[in-house]
Amino acid sequence: MKVMVVGGGGREHALCWKLAQSRRVEKIFCTPGNGGTAGTPKCKNYPLASLQEQVQLAVDNQIDLAVIGPEGPLVMGMADILREAGIPTVGPGKSAAALEGSKAFAKDFMIRYGVKTADYRRFHKSEFQEALQYIETIKYPVVVKADGLAAGKGVTIHKTKAEARAQLHALFVDEVLGESGHTVLIEKFIQGREVSVIVLVDGTQVLPLISAMDYKRIGENDTGLNTGGMGAISPNPFYTDMYRKKFEESILNPTIRGLKSENIDYRGVLYFGLMMSKEDVYLLEYNVRFGDPETQAIIPMLEEDLAPLLYDLALGQLHEDPLRCYDGSACSVVVASGGYPGEYRSGIPIQIDLPIAASIFIAGAQERDEESGAGRLYTSGGRVLSVTGVDRDLTSACRQAYTALENIYFEGRYYRRDIGKL
Ligand SMILES: Nc1ncnc2c1ncn2[C@@H]1O[C@H](COP(=O)(O)OP(=O)(O)O)[C@@H](O)[C@H]1O
Ligand SMILES: [Mg+2]
Repeated sequence: MKVMVVGGGGREHALCWKLAQSRRVEKIFCTPGNGGTAGTPKCKNYPLASLQEQVQLAVDNQIDLAVIGPEGPLVMGMADILREAGIPTVGPGKSAAALEGSKAFAKDFMIRYGVKTADYRRFHKSEFQEALQYIETIKYPVVVKADGLAAGKGVTIHKTKAEARAQLHALFVDEVLGESGHTVLIEKFIQGREVSVIVLVDGTQVLPLISAMDYKRIGENDTGLNTGGMGAISPNPFYTDMYRKKFEESILNPTIRGLKSENIDYRGVLYFGLMMSKEDVYLLEYNVRFGDPETQAIIPMLEEDLAPLLYDLALGQLHEDPLRCYDGSACSVVVASGGYPGEYRSGIPIQIDLPIAASIFIAGAQERDEESGAGRLYTSGGRVLSVTGVDRDLTSACRQAYTALENIYFEGRYYRRDIGKL
C-alpha cells in the first residue's frame, strides 16, 4: 500500500521507520518529512506547505492510508478533508481534534462524562477582575492553562499569588499567546508522577499502546526550562496495574462513552496525559495524536506490523486482541542544539560514526547535497534527533542509547544524561 505521513519531526521519522519495515508498504510519502525520512527506505519527502497541496498529493497518488502526525493539521480539519476525498485516514476530524485544540472544550467534555480530572475554574479575558479575585481565594501552587494551542508554552505552575497574577496579566493584557490565551483555566495542582498512555481508537474498538514517561525539562533532575521533550522511556515503571485499572474505569471508559454520546466517529490516536497521585489517577490533558518524544520510545517496542494496524484503524476494523509489545524496555534520549529551548544555531554538520546499535530518529535536521558527500545531515531545529535503545530491561536499554550517543556528534550538542534514571 501507499502511505502518506504528514509531519516532519522525530515522531514522524519513527512512524515512517516502522511503516517501512512492513511488507505491505510499497511507498511512503512524507509531507514535509525531514533529513531522517529522506534516508528511510521506501520514503520520499514532499516539502508542501499548504493543507490543500498535501491533500492533492494524496489524491493524485491514490494514497491508501494517510497518517497525520501533528496537532496543527488535525485541528484545522485535515482528516475530514482527506476522508471526504475517500482516503482512509488516521486522525480525528476537526470537531474531535478540539479535545486538544481547546483545553476549555476538553474540560467541559471531561466534566460532562465524569472523566476524573483536577478541579478548575475557567475565565475569559473579559473576566480579568473576577480571575484576579479568584486567585486571592485559592491554595497554592496553582496551574494556569491557556485554552488554545501554544506549542507547550501555555501551561504554567505558580507558587504564589503574585506569580499567578503576573501570568494572568501576560495572557489577558499583554496577550503573549495571542488568541490562545484569551480564555484560561485555573486548575488545582495535583502532586504526583506523570504517565502518558496512548490508545488507538477506530470509532468503537480501543487498543492501548504500552505506557511511557517523558522528560520535559531541559536540565537534569527535571530542572530548568520546559521543552518539547528531552527523552522518554517505555513502559512507565510507576504505572502499576492499580493505576491502569483506575485509568480504564475513571478516564478511558467514560471518554469513549462520551465520544459515542456525541456521535464522534473518532478514528485516530488518543493520548492521555495523566498524573498519578498516591491513590488516584487524574487526566491532565488529551492530545489527539501520537506524543513526541514518546512515540520514539513506544514504536520500537511494538512487535506488530504498524501498517495493517493503522489501516484497520482507519477502516474501523481494529482487531480485538491486545497489542503485542516486546517484553522489555525502551529508552529514548533527545539530542538538542546548544542553547535550546532558547536561541540556538542551525546548519551545523552532524557526524554519525557507524555502526550504531540503537535506532536514530531525526527531528530537526535536513539533508544537504554537497559535492563532498550528498545526503549529509545538518542541524535545522532545537531538538535535532533522538536515539532509542530497546533491550530486556530499562538499565540495558538506556546503556544502549547512551553508548550509541558516543558515536553521534555535532558542535554544541546537548542531551540529558539522566533519562531512565529513576
Ligand atoms: N493539574 C495539574 N497539576 C500538576 N501539574 C500539572 C497540572 N496540569 C498540568 N500540569 C503540568 O504541566 C504540564 C503541561 O500541562 P498539559 O496539560 O499537559 O498541557 P500542554 O502539554 O498542552 O502544555 C504537564 O505535563 C504537567 O507537568
Ligand atoms: Mg502535555
